[in-house]
Amino acid sequence: MIQQRNFDTVSLHWDEEPRRVMLARDISVSIQAQLALPQQWNALDFGCGTGLVTMQLAPLLQSITGIDSSSGMLDRLKDKIKNSGYSNVVTELCDVEKGTLPTGTYHLITSAMTLHHIENVVPLLTTLKTLLHPGGWVALADLASEDGSFHEDPTGIFHHGFAAEELTTMLEESGFTSISITAAANISKGERNFPVLLATAQSC
Ligand SMILES: C[S@@+](CC[C@H](N)C(=O)[O-])C[C@H]1O[C@@H](n2cnc3c(N)ncnc32)[C@H](O)[C@@H]1O
Repeated sequence: MIQQRNFDTVSLHWDEEPRRVMLARDISVSIQAQLALPQQWNALDFGCGTGLVTMQLAPLLQSITGIDSSSGMLDRLKDKIKNSGYSNVVTELCDVEKGTLPTGTYHLITSAMTLHHIENVVPLLTTLKTLLHPGGWVALADLASEDGSFHEDPTGIFHHGFAAEELTTMLEESGFTSISITAAANISKGERNFPVLLATAQSC
């Protein structure tokens, strides 16, 4: 059985890896390119971690709620919120797989590099869909299929990325429409290059 990864232990140093900061910027730019992001939207960032994507999107939206199952990761985001003075960013400690859900309803749910940590993706996406306004969107960024060499530590890794067709099928099975898969970024690690896909889809 694959164990869950403990992100509390890595939270203090998470942002020190420049490729994570660059990736969050690239993903945020790709989300903006795919969805117009009206300023009046309320968003949820699922598996927000230290808020690398959350804080990029915050100035573009009415509000954004970062949810994560790691209190350590959320503590880093809380520090950023305090230091930035942004009043439209909030955090909630939620483990969506265990059924602890945020309280709001959203126009947009984003997620960056979290889906590969989720064992059963379709039930998760089906749950996220219940948090969207009718016609709301998801924007989910994750590794394209890879050979398992991306993570040195296999703890909590349930998927070695996702093929575009796999993402499409999972979104269809979860009841989403208007599905689009685009290339969002590339992660350079040593000699290797790992593409990251962005899946956008709409709730009916
Ligand atoms: C690889 S990190 C990505 C963090 C951030 N999105 C980023 O791009 O830097 C994955 C995050 O997903 C969170 N996570 C994993 N499973 C979760 C779940 N079931 N519910 C909420 N958060 C979860 C982890 O705690 C971790 O912070």
